[in-house]
Amino acid sequence: MVAMQQLLLLFLLLLLHLKALMNNWRNEPESWTGSTDPCTSWVGISCSNGRVTEMRLASMNLQGTLSNAIGQLSALKYLDLSNNQNLGGPLTPNIGNLKQLTTLALNSNNFTGGIPPTLGLLSNLFWLDMSANQLSGQIPVSPGLNQLVNTRHFHFSENQLTGPMSESLFSDKMNLIHVLFDNNQLTGPIPAELGSITTLQILRLDNNKFTGAVPTNISNLVDLNVLNFADNQLHGTMPDLSTLTKLNVVDLSNNSFDPSAIPTWMLTLETLASVAIASGGLHGQIPNRIFTLPRLQQVILSNNAFNGTLDMTGNITQQLQQVNLLNNRIVAANITQSYNRTLVLVGNPVCLDPDFSSSRFCSIQQDSATSYTTSVTHCGSTSCSSDQSLDPANCGCAYPYMGMIFFRSPLFADLRNNEHFQLLEASLSTELGLQPGSVFLSDIHFTSDNYLQVQVRLFPSIGTSFNLSEVTRIGSDLSNQNYKPPQGFGPYYFVADPYVHFAGAADGGKSQVSTGAIAGIAVACGLILIAVTSGAIFSLLQKRRTRELSGRTNPFENNEIGSGSYGKVYKAVLVDGTNVAIKRAEYGSKQGAVEFKNEIELLSRVHHKNLVSLTGFCYEQGEQMLVYEYVSNGTLRQNLQARGIYLDWKKRLRIALGSARGLAYLHELADPPIIHRDVKSTNILLDENFKPKVADFGLSKLVADTEKGHISTQVKGTLGYLDPEYYMTQQLSEKSDVYSFGVVMLEILSGRLPISNGRYIVREFRMAINPNDHDYYGLQGIVDPAIHDAAHTARFRRFVQLAMECVDESASRRPTMNSVVKEIETMLHSEGLSSGSSSTVEFEHVGTASTSHPHSGEVVTAH
Ligand SMILES: *[C@@H]1O[C@H](CO)[C@@H](O)[C@H](O)[C@H]1NC(C)=O
Ligand SMILES: *[C@@H]1O[C@H](CO)[C@@H](O)[C@H](O)[C@H]1NC(C)=O
Ligand SMILES: *[C@@H]1O[C@H](CO)[C@@H](O)[C@H](O)[C@H]1NC(C)=O
Ligand SMILES: *[C@@H]1O[C@H](CO)[C@@H](O)[C@H](O)[C@H]1NC(C)=O
Ligand SMILES: *[C@@H]1O[C@H](CO)[C@@H](O)[C@H](O)[C@H]1NC(C)=O
Ligand SMILES: *[C@@H]1O[C@H](CO)[C@@H](O)[C@H](O)[C@H]1NC(C)=O
Ligand SMILES: *[C@@H]1O[C@H](CO)[C@@H](O)[C@H](O)[C@H]1NC(C)=O
Ligand SMILES: *[C@@H]1O[C@H](CO)[C@@H](O)[C@H](O)[C@H]1NC(C)=O
Repeated sequence: MVAMQQLLLLFLLLLLHLKALMNNWRNEPESWTGSTDPCTSWVGISCSNGRVTEMRLASMNLQGTLSNAIGQLSALKYLDLSNNQNLGGPLTPNIGNLKQLTTLALNSNNFTGGIPPTLGLLSNLFWLDMSANQLSGQIPVSPGLNQLVNTRHFHFSENQLTGPMSESLFSDKMNLIHVLFDNNQLTGPIPAELGSITTLQILRLDNNKFTGAVPTNISNLVDLNVLNFADNQLHGTMPDLSTLTKLNVVDLSNNSFDPSAIPTWMLTLETLASVAIASGGLHGQIPNRIFTLPRLQQVILSNNAFNGTLDMTGNITQQLQQVNLLNNRIVAANITQSYNRTLVLVGNPVCLDPDFSSSRFCSIQQDSATSYTTSVTHCGSTSCSSDQSLDPANCGCAYPYMGMIFFRSPLFADLRNNEHFQLLEASLSTELGLQPGSVFLSDIHFTSDNYLQVQVRLFPSIGTSFNLSEVTRIGSDLSNQNYKPPQGFGPYYFVADPYVHFAGAADGGKSQVSTGAIAGIAVACGLILIAVTSGAIFSLLQKRRTRELSGRTNPFENNEIGSGSYGKVYKAVLVDGTNVAIKRAEYGSKQGAVEFKNEIELLSRVHHKNLVSLTGFCYEQGEQMLVYEYVSNGTLRQNLQARGIYLDWKKRLRIALGSARGLAYLHELADPPIIHRDVKSTNILLDENFKPKVADFGLSKLVADTEKGHISTQVKGTLGYLDPEYYMTQQLSEKSDVYSFGVVMLEILSGRLPISNGRYIVREFRMAINPNDHDYYGLQGIVDPAIHDAAHTARFRRFVQLAMECVDESASRRPTMNSVVKEIETMLHSEGLSSGSSSTVEFEHVGTASTSHPHSGEVVTAH
């Protein structure tokens, strides 16, 4: 009783929830299909107390949609699905159930539809990144994002968000540091309340359709480093930014501000590194002062109406790399001799002056210096094969781990500045645990969305390639923002190239269910009490309460669908609507933890379309349960008996073939081989297409390492199907299953039970067979009337003969399951029917070659 109270629905809820997610995904990591233990063996999954707390699945090439079932993982703190470009579809409102979430990164995918207002419920959220999707509609408010007062990061760049930003989206209760809504289609004014979030450091609203004046409240944002309002339809006076004394990057280009002289803050903010006001309606003389701002790297003032003389004399700041004055009205220029960096004066009257027109400043292409690239000149002339690269640390050739880092809003503009990028190299090698100097940076440039793109090559410390665990570690540190770049680089995202040159054997696919994991899973089983809200499981819970009260009711009884040697079988419906069958061990068949663990481990590796697959399990003291896929059409026995259902000869042949294939797989391809020990018509289930699936295997003795090929064991099985030789000698072998299968074949022929009215089907057939009877082979009184038509064919006779060979008294004279398969295939071919495969025997292994599934269109249910 006490055990029941504690351990009622003890199956692997956690695994089932993850499987519900996976049902909507393709391409999941190999370790997920090779093991039933998510908490210890699945890449990217972390658990605490048997509940999933982290899913770090960035850049995994996952495909599909995000299932509603995500909402069941209510202990989740960290959810990163970023950069799986083929992950899409709408975002489920159930994300709002994940109240523990601190990080939600769904960026760089193909999610569509609106931002669910339920995101506002994520009161612990620190990091929210939805950038680079196809999200549309208005930003939800009350309920919605305005509730996220603890969130520091709003990253919504590069979507298709529309409508005005509600004034109540922002408030002084918020603690945002990054607000990125650039590259959307937002309209209306910029909300003045933004000015009340004084924690803000980066504000990007560029590339939208904002209108109206910039609210004066912006001047309250005294910690702001980046302000980008470019490419909108803003009106009114140019905002006064003079109080923003930490500004590094400002872009107000391509708006419709009132014409004005250069704003004074541009001359006083000594922190400025990059200023852009292209097409800003500016006029008058450009003050010399701007070129002396101590940190200035870039000034873009193209397409304005600056006139007079350009004065670039005196103490021009050393960092200044680029001055763009394209298309202004500058008539003369006095430029210090030593200024050897970029200055564009094309489109100004001064370039029509014959004395000046030959100046390099009158041509766009004056940029000889390129952006930074890691130097390998110390390596001399070493060259590597095309898929390897030179490791700057040791000048050797190796297979680097490569990818692109996109910095969304760096605080600098100068891409030739060694200092920034050498700091980045040093920090990458230190933080990622690589040898100093084993980082190669190249192809550094700003993208059209104004992100800084850097190609990164990272080199292995030992040998010429990384092993899988290293690649996983480094990739996830970069993809999941664990790696913090040096100051000035700001928020980033990482896009990895696939890595294929793994060192040694793959070390990530091995599945191991540890005792610790089982303990963890056992705790997870308790989750169902909270999580399950509908279907049969819920009704079980209700009954449990009844039972606790009455002390007598069996909570499972109304859902029972069968029973086997191991225990009773119940049907249940998971919250996502998936039907499952739960098999609950009876007291006598319970095993110790180690044995149970071993069997689960083995069964979870057995995958064949003609075997019922195990999808979950639960183990706790006093309670053992197994969760299987639900096969809808009942047992072969029920189908043979039900008069309403017509199993014709061809269907029967196909059922025999499929079942034989399942058994042949167990005998010959399962590792170690498995003897079913209880083959019978009630253990062959039929799916909605009458495809057979053999059930109840493996909860029996596995074929141990015996030299004789058989093992001595207590006799087990069902009367009528039992191999007489095994019964007498207690020596079990695969041939015992062959005998039982022969009995099933006789059932298929006759529709009769193996033992009825005191008569044994094997003996009945043996006595009746008459080769001289050309119509019925002597079996007129025995063969099921439903298949009388077939009885005169050679195939029919061969089928009978094959069945009789299987039930031969002597095990050594019985065929193997494999030859049974081949025989039945031949019969089907001569019936002019496809046997379902061009190869003679079809087998599948779990976890291998999932891409080249031999049966397109036929789904292996458990992944
Ligand atoms: C993303 O979705 C759009 C339609 O919404 C589709 O056209 C495009 O092919 C998808 N991209 C990927 C990589 O799946
Ligand atoms: C501007 O900011 C101040 C102080 O942060 C705030 O009290 C005021 O309501 C804001 N004005 C508007 C129109 O939001
Ligand atoms: C401003 O608009 C022009 C022309 O549409 C475009 O080429 C330029 O990139 C824009 N500038 C910025 C800073 O967005
Ligand atoms: C420059 O432009 C301003 C205003 O547009 C004008 O007042 C001034 O006379 C111009 N200066 C020169 C030298 O053309
Ligand atoms: C130029 O700047 C340097 C340091 O920034 C300073 O030491 C020097 O006095 C300045 N010279 C002039 C002429 O302003
Ligand atoms: C250029 O500027 C320098 C320093 O301000 C000044 O001495 C010189 O006369 C100027 N040249 C012209 C042509 O204006
Ligand atoms: C510009 O001149 C400085 C010295 O005044 C020199 O150090 C630097 O390399 C030069 N840069 C380019 C791009 O020529
Ligand atoms: C993978 O490589 C790292 C570093 O070279 C090493 O420490 C680790 O033991 C390797 N792991 C495996 C499973 O080989």
